[in-house]
Amino acid sequence: MQDHRVWNCALVSIFLLIKLENIDGIQKWSMQFGHTPLLERFTWKKMDFAYPDERSRQLAMASGEYIPENSLPVGIEIWRNKLFVTIPRWRDGIPSTLNYIPLDANQGGSPKLIPYPNWVQNRAGTCGRGLTTVYRIHADACNRLWVLDTGTIGIGETTVQACPYTLNVFDLTTDKVLRQYRLRPEDINQNTFIANIAVDLGKGGCDDAFAYMSDELGYGLIVYSWQQNTSWRIAHSYFMPDPLAGDYNIGGLNFQWGEEGIFGMSLSPISADGYRILFFHPLSSHREFAVSTRILRDQRLSQNSYHEFQVLASRGPLSHCTASVMDENGLQFFNLIDQNAVGCWNSMLPYSPINQAVVARHDEAMIFPADIKVNRGLLWIMSDRMPIFLLSNLNYTDVNFRILTMPIQAAISGTVCDNMPWRFISNRIWWD
Ligand SMILES: *[C@@H]1O[C@H](CO)[C@@H](O)[C@H](O)[C@H]1NC(C)=O
Ligand SMILES: *[C@@H]1O[C@H](CO)[C@@H](O)[C@H](O)[C@H]1NC(C)=O
Repeated sequence: MQDHRVWNCALVSIFLLIKLENIDGIQKWSMQFGHTPLLERFTWKKMDFAYPDERSRQLAMASGEYIPENSLPVGIEIWRNKLFVTIPRWRDGIPSTLNYIPLDANQGGSPKLIPYPNWVQNRAGTCGRGLTTVYRIHADACNRLWVLDTGTIGIGETTVQACPYTLNVFDLTTDKVLRQYRLRPEDINQNTFIANIAVDLGKGGCDDAFAYMSDELGYGLIVYSWQQNTSWRIAHSYFMPDPLAGDYNIGGLNFQWGEEGIFGMSLSPISADGYRILFFHPLSSHREFAVSTRILRDQRLSQNSYHEFQVLASRGPLSHCTASVMDENGLQFFNLIDQNAVGCWNSMLPYSPINQAVVARHDEAMIFPADIKVNRGLLWIMSDRMPIFLLSNLNYTDVNFRILTMPIQAAISGTVCDNMPWRFISNRIWWD
């Protein structure tokens, strides 16, 4: 029923697509559902880096240190006037993995990326001193940037583990590393691939912090405690992919990603019991799962609480999801990669397809939404055509990578996500 509606809307919307005029280099796309504009902030055909001058850029290209076609952005984060963009070292010629764009100096267009905190700390394979490969990152309310360096170069069969998995926490106000923590050998296994991190700030302030890292191919959840400066690994069968959900059709390609387990995570506001709820989903699955951080934060409890993990209703077909995020009001947004779309769910309502809506969809601009963030009332979306990059070839005369924004209030207005007064009060979720 719901799917029918979504598809009808989608069909109608294709005809509604009008590219509006170019205002100061910012293109506005009419929103496909008619009410909210999706603002195309930045677009790139290829990623470029802010070399100190054109000569060093040319030298980097001549030496193969920079190969423009090889950079695929996968993660974003926003902190004050910095928009961070991460690029994994899947292929050669990626000069820097953690980068930013100064938002005050760039209103649109295709800005060159500036390595964060600098070039030297982005040198591959310089274990302990530089970042090798970074996927999704998180800036917390204490002005810290949480960055998991996987230490890997390559993707799939070609992967080389140049450095150990290392969690780096930067002080964004000084650009210095506050904490560096190598995952313990017991935290990972030979299949480990971690591309997502969630950061849980508790009631106890900035020191009451935990990071949750999802091991997509090793099927685990690694917890890091800031206070204890230690980590542990949790296993659960809900971290595994659904064997029936491994078939994908995206960007005109059919492919199978049958092994992709626990991937996107989002954290609820703090509940009445003092804990948050971690929502998570395997990539190859149509389901969301949930567990209280009361379980995750306690090493002993986390090893012995199978039944504390909850199963939510299926989102239905065409609902593979990469990244998700929940705002301070308990409103969750999630990327719907099969639909070139972003969905919403108001966690005051039971988790089910009738309580979810599509807030943004664009069949050209949103092919493979890879990351999503909420910042000061705005939804930030990055799309990158990843399957085409990995399985076919990107067309480098076309725009491939986009960062789009949408005001949250406008995005949800008129949808089921907007039908309740805001406030996350309950210490339970209504999924029964
Ligand atoms: C945290 O633990 C690591 C060892 O795993 C150590 O190298 C580091 O110095 C510790 N940091 C703090 C702040 O205790
Ligand atoms: C590549 O993209 C450009 C610009 O959108 C388009 O004109 C061209 O036809 C595309 N080439 C191929 C082979 O699809």
